[in-house]
Order: sequence, then C-alpha cells, then structure tokens
Amino acid sequence: MKIINEIKQRAKKIAATIILPEANIDKRVYDACLYILENKLSKIIVLGKTSDFDERFQDKNCQIIDIENYAELDKFAQQLYELRKKKGMTLDEAKVKVKSPDYFSCMMLYNNLADGMVAGATWTTGDTLRPALQIVKTKPDKSIVTGVMLMVKDRCAPLVFGDVSLIENPSEENLADIAISSAEFMKSIFDIEPKVAMLSYSTKGSAKSEMVDKVRNATIIANKKSKFLIDGEMQVDSALDEKTAKKKGITSAVGGNANVLIFPDLNAGNIGYKLVARLGGYTAVGPIMLNFNKPVNDLSRGCTVDEIVSTVCITKLLTDTKNK
Ligand SMILES: CC(C)(COP(=O)(O)OP(=O)(O)OC[C@H]1O[C@@H](n2cnc3c(N)ncnc32)[C@H](O)[C@@H]1OP(=O)(O)O)[C@@H](O)C(=O)NCCC(=O)NCCS
Repeated sequence: MKIINEIKQRAKKIAATIILPEANIDKRVYDACLYILENKLSKIIVLGKTSDFDERFQDKNCQIIDIENYAELDKFAQQLYELRKKKGMTLDEAKVKVKSPDYFSCMMLYNNLADGMVAGATWTTGDTLRPALQIVKTKPDKSIVTGVMLMVKDRCAPLVFGDVSLIENPSEENLADIAISSAEFMKSIFDIEPKVAMLSYSTKGSAKSEMVDKVRNATIIANKKSKFLIDGEMQVDSALDEKTAKKKGITSAVGGNANVLIFPDLNAGNIGYKLVARLGGYTAVGPIMLNFNKPVNDLSRGCTVDEIVSTVCITKLLTDTKNK
C-alpha cells in the first residue's frame, strides 16, 4: 500500500533505535526483525541469548541483549525503585521487575539507550502499556497518553480515529486532549490539515443527555486549547457526508470533510474502527500511542509480520516529529 511504503521510506532516513523485546519468543517478531535488518529500515535491539538468534542478527544495526548478564541491571533496579517507591515498590521488587523484558525495555528508554519500543505480540495491552505509563510517562505538556488508529485505503486520504485502545471512559478534558493530540498526529505525520469531528449520537443538540453534554463540552474545551478545526457534537454521517452535515446544521468545514474522528468512549472507538476495517475495506494501522516521552507502541496479539514492520516505522516517525 502506497501510504505504508511512504512511511517505510521516511522511517528509513531517521536515525533511531527501536527495541523489540519479544523477538526471542515470537516467530512473527523474529521475522519482522529480519525484514527490518535486511531492508535497513532501522537499528534494533532484541532481548535474549545470542543462541536464540541466527547469524543474520549478527548485523551492525542489531544489538542483542541478554538481560541476566546486562551490566546496568543494578542501576536500572535502583532507578525503578526511586521512580516507584511512592507507589509502594520495594528495592527487592524492583530488582525482580527489571529482569522482565517489559520493564527492562522501558528502563532502556528511560536511560536513552533506545528511542522507541514496539511490543505486545504476546502480551496484553495492559501488560505492554502499564510499565511504559509508569516509567516512560507522559510528555510534560500533555495530560494523557492516547491510542489512535490510522485508517488507510488506496486512493483515499488517511483518517485518524481516537481513542480506540486505551482510555475507557474519557472525561471532557480527556476527550478534548484526545482530539488535540490526534489532530497534532495528523498534521505532524502527514502535513494534512486536520478536520476534527467530535462524534456522538446527536448533532448540534438534536438529542439531550449527559453523554451528549460530555462531547459538546469537550469540543468547547478543545477549541479553547487549540487552533485546530474541531467541531461537534455531531453524528458520524454529518462528519463524513456534506449534504447530511448541511441538513443537520453543521456550518464549519469539518462537516462532511472530517479526517480525524474522535469517539466518545473506548467501546465506540474500538467498535468503530473495526467496522470501518471489516466493512469499509480500510487497513487499520496501530494502535499508535501518542504523548509518551518516548514512543511505545502496542501490537495486537493477532498481528502479522507486515504490521509489526509498519509499527516499527511509525514508531520511528514519532521519534522525529512534534510528537517527540
Ligand atoms: C493501560 C491500563 C491497563 C492502565 O490501567 P491500570 O493497570 O489499571 O493502571 P492504573 O490505572 O493504575 O495506571 C497505572 C499508571 O498509568 C497512568 N495512566 C493510566 N492511564 C493513563 C493514560 N491514558 N495516560 C497517562 N497515564 C496513564 C496512571 O496515572 C498510573 O500512574 P502512576 O502509577 O504513576 O500513578 C488501562 O488504562 C486499560 O486497561 N486500558 C484499556 C486497554 C485495553 O484493554 N485496550 C483494549 C483495546 S486494544
């Protein structure tokens, strides 16, 4: 697909090292690493014993780290303890945790020894993201990490859907921040002017309820906090079809032309992107986590080798944009 190839070519030019902690335990990640090395898409770090990997991993762009024998392990444990002691973690617990690949990888990011991480082929979303939320943390100027989906289809402009993977029941403030972060992603990655629709089952007061108020208030907050074109609340047909938008009283350029769709909660977001993928023929790329201090991306456990490679490339783009 053209857009994915473009992302790969752009990623190739970025000097960043991505850690893939599951290459020694998952064949798809292993094969994705080989593809990345063969095509010189990225420098990578994999975890395990040298004997876990064949000779193709003896590549100047690949570092194999055996956690058990890693020289900085005690330092990592002390750092983790300092970071988490207020939350009740003991030094002994930290010493155990840093030996697990998820925590170890996040400590590599924390110490600037890697620029991004891609994991989750074998771990749940929670297990992949919890250490990152605790250690890598949210950028200082952002209040939340949010997971968006890039929806692509040949001959169609890309769409961004948020939040589809992380924040179950966002507050009005959260929803506003999801909208702004998703718009920043569209602008910084594609240089496309974002037109953000705040989705609801109501368009401009056609229904009244607390659920609708939440989306309307989030739209007001988002517009106060940013200069992006953000409008709502609106139904998805008003967001995507100009005639419907006009009929329903949407006067902004978002009506009928939205390219960033913000869902009111995780049920709607997750169901929404899967419907568009299954019935609309779009490819869903992601989820792409925005606002981490260093990019961490979560793979689906059903991911393919191609999806892992694309996620690594997008992770590299995130190291090199305003999303940094
Ligand atoms: C990711 C997730 C597991 C974290 O929740 P949790 O394990 O209950 O952990 P907590 O809520 O205690 O949060 C852990 C830390 O992350 C922080 N955090 C949680 N969500 C955050 C967010 N969206 N942005 C920034 N920080 C966040 C918390 O503030 C907390 O920090 P602290 O421990 O330093 O105080 C949870 O948000 C979740 O399950 N989301 C749904 C994910 C999912 O299942 N998706 C499936 C669709 S793909």
